[in-house]
Amino acid sequence: MSEKRSTELSAEQNGVDPRVTTPNVGNKVTVVLGAQWGDEGKGKVVDLLAQDADIVCRCQGGNNAGHTVVVDSVEYDFHLLPSGIINPKATNFIGNGVVIHLPGLFEEAEKNLQKGKVFDFHQAVDGVQEQQRQQQAGKKLGTTKKGIGPVYSSKAARNGLRICDLMSDFQEFSKRFKVLAAQYTSMYPTLEIDIEGELEKLKVYVEKIKPMVRDGVQFMYEALHGPPKKILVEGANAALLDIDFGTYPFVTSSNCTVGGVCTGLGLPPRNVGKVYGVVKAYTTRVGVGAFPSEQNNEIGDLLQARGKEVGVTTGRKRRCGWLDLVLVKYAQMLNGFTAIAVTKLDILDVLPEIKVGVAYKVDDVVIPHFPANQEVLQKVEVQYHTLPGWNSDTSTARTFQELPENAQKYIRFIEDRLEVPVKWIGVGKSRESMIQLF
Ligand code: GDP
Ligand code: IMO
Ligand code: MG
Repeated sequence: MSEKRSTELSAEQNGVDPRVTTPNVGNKVTVVLGAQWGDEGKGKVVDLLAQDADIVCRCQGGNNAGHTVVVDSVEYDFHLLPSGIINPKATNFIGNGVVIHLPGLFEEAEKNLQKGKVFDFHQAVDGVQEQQRQQQAGKKLGTTKKGIGPVYSSKAARNGLRICDLMSDFQEFSKRFKVLAAQYTSMYPTLEIDIEGELEKLKVYVEKIKPMVRDGVQFMYEALHGPPKKILVEGANAALLDIDFGTYPFVTSSNCTVGGVCTGLGLPPRNVGKVYGVVKAYTTRVGVGAFPSEQNNEIGDLLQARGKEVGVTTGRKRRCGWLDLVLVKYAQMLNGFTAIAVTKLDILDVLPEIKVGVAYKVDDVVIPHFPANQEVLQKVEVQYHTLPGWNSDTSTARTFQELPENAQKYIRFIEDRLEVPVKWIGVGKSRESMIQLF
């Protein structure tokens, strides 16, 4: 009795309530997220980590994502399938936060091979909305036209249809599908929807996907609480495209920051383990919207050409500019990265000097945080720190020490400014072209 009391006292002295028992937290997921405007090389980092993974998950976005993985000179591009699909031992899981265009999924699976649903009309509406934005406001958003905005709008308006609805009573599904289609045709009178034709196609998919569908919450719970497992989560899109924290309205329609992992897979925050940010050694952006460090000049052209900066999903040229640590720091504030991967360092090999954005000024005054408002972001003046280039080939380096001194300094500069360790450095497209620091 007195012994028990004394342990209770000491627990209380330590600020621990003795009534609270330590729960069995279970396995933790490792997360890979984009820290800029997308296309940082997430696919390549996921591929690296997925080689011994048991489960690889997608938690948000749809086939607006385009992730490239290069293995043995074969280039794969993934849009809806997790990049872990290359590892035959891994189970690939598409969570509830993802919006799925079923024909796109099967097309992708056949070319390369579980809830919200994108229909063909969502994609058509995405196109019509872009036209209207152009006509009414003189400016498009520059979407991927994969129906992402319209389908997440349906979700928020609570008339969307989920995979679980498709798996249930097809008649009921058809009724709700028709209501949704009617709502769209009344909103967009020029829209033509082949309702019976789409339903016919969907019916075929029901049988095809049935064996692959699981209750997502149960699946994740068992994965987290069974024997030790390595579970990876592949983020799509990126922090600055996040619906809440990105450069709104020039964003996508999901949460591409770490919160999306919990809501898009149905897992508690305590099961989120390491969170890796992927940062390109410079900055790119596809589509419209402010881009403070953009280089609309020969530097931008050089980065575009050397980096082969063309969108995987849309084939559009990516806009290019210097690395902007103001926005990467903002991504770090949102995600709390454990460590980062700096990709495409090799693209900078030919530059005599390299600039890095370190602060924003508005009306000659340094502003204290990343501006939420687009008009403000449009007019910020980036303050650059200039570092000497290395003028030599980094693509064969496999250790940090093998990198030229100035390239090492560039990496250390990024680390110091962000106060986050750099764990990997990308020096080429292939799986082998990655330096691991620790
Ligand atoms: P994700 O959307 O973030 O997965 O990135 P993308 O696949 O859309 O774009 C990244 C592009 O850069 C792809 O073509 C990759 O093959 C390529 N890439 C990734 N890392 C490196 C690197 O370190 N060096 C070079 N030269 N290319 C890279
Ligand atoms: P990954 O995963 C780059 C951009 C589009 C557009 C805006 C909205 O490959 O990094 P949407 O179709 O989502 O409504 O388009 O978001 N965008 C991306 N840009 N990489 C991506 O994904 C993107 N996903 C969306 O270009 O400006
Ligand atoms: Mg991409």
